[in-house]
Order: sequence, then C-alpha cells, then structure tokens
Amino acid sequence: MLKSLSLLVACFLMGCVSSSDAFQQQASLGRGINLGNSLEAPVEGAWGPKITDEDLVRLKKAGFNSVRIPTRWSAHALKVAPYTIDPAFMARVDHVVQVALAQGLVVVLNAHHYQEIDEAPAEHRERLAMMWHQIATHFADFPESLQFEIYNEPNTQHTAEAWNLTLAAALQEIRKTNPTRAVHIGGVEWNKIGTLKDLKLPPEDRHIIAQIHYYAPFHFTHQNASWVKGSTAWNGTKWDGTEADKEAVRRDFKAAADWSQKEQRPVFMGEFGTSAGVADMDAGLLNPWTAFIASEAPRYHLTWAYWEYQANFGIWDPKAQQWREPLKATLLGDN
Ligand code: BGC
Repeated sequence: MLKSLSLLVACFLMGCVSSSDAFQQQASLGRGINLGNSLEAPVEGAWGPKITDEDLVRLKKAGFNSVRIPTRWSAHALKVAPYTIDPAFMARVDHVVQVALAQGLVVVLNAHHYQEIDEAPAEHRERLAMMWHQIATHFADFPESLQFEIYNEPNTQHTAEAWNLTLAAALQEIRKTNPTRAVHIGGVEWNKIGTLKDLKLPPEDRHIIAQIHYYAPFHFTHQNASWVKGSTAWNGTKWDGTEADKEAVRRDFKAAADWSQKEQRPVFMGEFGTSAGVADMDAGLLNPWTAFIASEAPRYHLTWAYWEYQANFGIWDPKAQQWREPLKATLLGDN
C-alpha cells in the first residue's frame, strides 16, 4: 500500500499521471484537416493565401477536431550550427498554434519539405534534431493538445535505416523537454503503410503515434496534379467503389490495424485526399473515394486529417470565400 502510494506520489511529481496515453492522444485528433500549402511553402503566401485567425475559427465551427500544420522550418533556420530558427518565423508559427488551440482544436505541428534531408540524410540529421531541440523547448509548456510530428514523408535516400537514425536523434532532443507529449512518426516511402514494420521505435517510449498517408490508387487521386510528372495522362481515371476497389482499401487499413495491435501503438492517417483533377469536387457530386476512406478508416481505429484546406485538394474555396459543400459534407456529414 505504502509502496504504491509513494509510486503514485513520485509519478505525480514527474508528471506522469497528468498526461493521457497515446491512444487517447490519437483519439482526440478525430476528424482533422491539413493547413497545406501555407507554412510549408518556401515562404508563407507563395503557394496560396496565408493562414488567418478566421480560418481556424471557421474550421472549428465546421466540425473539425484537429489541424495538422505542415511547416518548412528548414527554410527559416541557419544552415550551420547552432541552426538558429528565425525568431520571426517561430513567432508566426506560435501565433497560428495558439489561435488553433484557443479554438479547442488539437494541433499536429510537423517539419515538412526539408527536401535536402531526403537527398542526404547523414548531412542534415543533426540540423533537423537541433531544430527540434529549439521547437520543443519553445513549446514545452504548451498543453498536451499540441502534438509534434518529426518529419513528413521521408523518402528517396531516407531509407528505413537512415530514417531510423534521423527519428532517434530528433526524438532524443524532443524528449529532453517534452517527456510525454505525443510525437508522430511515419514510415519511409512517403509514410506508406507497408513501411510501418521497418520503424525502430524506442520500446519504453509510449507517447508515440504512428502516422500513415493514403492516396491509393495514386493514378486516381493524383490525376492532373501539376507537381506529379506525367499525371495528366491519368485524367479521367475513375474510382467506382466496386467490391474489389473497397477490398483493396480494407486490406491496406487492416495491415495498419494489425501493426497497431502487434506493437500496441495507435495510428493516425495524417493525409488522404484527391487532387482538383478529380473533377467531381466542383461538379457538386460526392467524391465516392473520399467518402469511403473517411468513413471506413475509423472502423480500423484510424483517426484522420484530410489533405487539405484551401489549395488544390481544398475543401474551402478561397476565391469564392465559400465551402466546397459536397466535399465538406463528405468529410463531416451534417455538422
Ligand atoms: C505534400 C504536398 C502534396 C500532397 C499530396 C503532401 O505530403 O507535402 O505537397 O500536395 O502530399 O500530393
């Protein structure tokens, strides 16, 4: 009795009773949206409108539970040690995070489009870790509804072996100041489900959320996507939602659920969506792929964030200043 009481006191002093476990942290993300093409552009505004406070009010009011904030820290930090992040950029990200949290949105803050690290991981690993050192220190006192994500979609030279070294170095820096904050980590090859099995995560760290991205079949979701070479050739590709189409998705989600069960770690689908090339978006028809993915994922205990808010895949039309209602209804139902 005395032993368990002192354990409880020690645990309380160390803060371990006050934090939710990773499964609760993952569940709190519910239905989310990516604030894509904003803070991960080379400069905010270069790829579309800047994020405004009203955007976050609007997203909460629409019924989203969370926002993922893609952020290109690597374009706003010194290239040499100590890799100092530009204080103005830190203040800007801080502002967006604070406004989102004040709305009651759960936030996933990541590092995005550090393309140099995917080309040469060994040369950039320390820089990413030291940027995380600064980000983690800055946000250490923020509530647990702020979650971190080490790096979006490792790919190319970021092989499983290289990525395991990168994630370990960054996680070590984060844990110095944020021992129980949820940290998202996805597998290589653009956060593919099939690469979850290659992740080497510290067994004692129980505040990790695994992240997957889902765009299959790619020739359907990325038709006419200007950033994907050759994608105009896929124009007109349909996804009819036949039993075979649905089974393929279920097989993929089951693989994620099986990994989750085996490793006892929750999984978040941090991106899924279809490009504007899938013309149904504006034609006023429900997009059957998006509808199926959004409704099927929770059956496999996946919470999710749609890619994205107001750019090419967008649910909000910034020019017309209105929702793309069919897409909004597809994602949020009658909210
Ligand atoms: C990339 C975006 C891209 C999206 C869909 C994201 O992970 O960062 O640039 O638009 O995937 O292809």
